[in-house]
Amino acid sequence: MVMRKFIEFSQVNKSYQSGEIKTRVLKDVSFSVDEGEFVVLLGKSGSGKSTILNILGGMDRASGGTVFAAGKDITACDDKAIAAYRRDKIGFVFQSYNLISGLTALENVELGAEVCKNHLNPAKMLASVGLSKKKNSFPTQMSGGEQQRAAIARALAKNPLILLCDEPTGALDDANGKMILELLEKVNASMRKTILIITHNASIAPMADKVIRVADGRIEGVMFNENKISVKELGD
Ligand SMILES: Nc1ncnc2c1ncn2[C@@H]1O[C@H](COP(=O)(O)OP(=O)(O)OP(=O)(O)O)[C@@H](O)[C@H]1O
Ligand SMILES: [Mg+2]
Repeated sequence: MVMRKFIEFSQVNKSYQSGEIKTRVLKDVSFSVDEGEFVVLLGKSGSGKSTILNILGGMDRASGGTVFAAGKDITACDDKAIAAYRRDKIGFVFQSYNLISGLTALENVELGAEVCKNHLNPAKMLASVGLSKKKNSFPTQMSGGEQQRAAIARALAKNPLILLCDEPTGALDDANGKMILELLEKVNASMRKTILIITHNASIAPMADKVIRVADGRIEGVMFNENKISVKELGD
């Protein structure tokens, strides 16, 4: 049997066909991630970062190549198996939080947890992101940073193996952005979750174990930080 990495993209391609025109969005993308690693995906707008994360999260399908994650070849999964993978193994955090506006913070987290067998206690998860006092607040009554923390609590309450974050600080000011990064740093260290986050912001890179640079649908480079630094030490 071939020994696989925890996450392994091999020669992954993604194209979109519109009429006669075929656009190649991912071109032979290969990289790997070890369990427990904190990974930053860095690249310009349109380079293919979200496409990579969505394929890894089981929300989109590769056109070619293989993606191995958490013991499964997800490119060989049927729709039912990919839905189970997405539900049980993946927590996803969006740039725009995506909380449900008619539900309180606690209800949003409960909704995330409910569908999963090994879920964690929703109230405890809210407490762990520092939001106990806001548990009965609706999203409109929370700041952007608080909404993003609730969205992270919702993703974590599922107790996923892999936490994927698409520009989790993109809609936040610097102070709130740092708070979110510190929270992810803590989750990575204390809960041993494998985390991949997307950013445009190269100044975040030194906090990662591994930095994957994406350019024009290709992996431009992979860099390891021998001595990663804490969010507190990051410059502005
Ligand atoms: N459904 C689609 N049909 C056609 N092209 C698409 C589709 N979805 C994405 N693309 C194209 O794929 C490319 C990569 O998109 P992607 O969203 O992965 O970029 P990104 O690196 O996440 O950019 P950003 O930083 O702006 O979020 C873009 O050129 C985009 O226009
Ligand atoms: Mg994107």
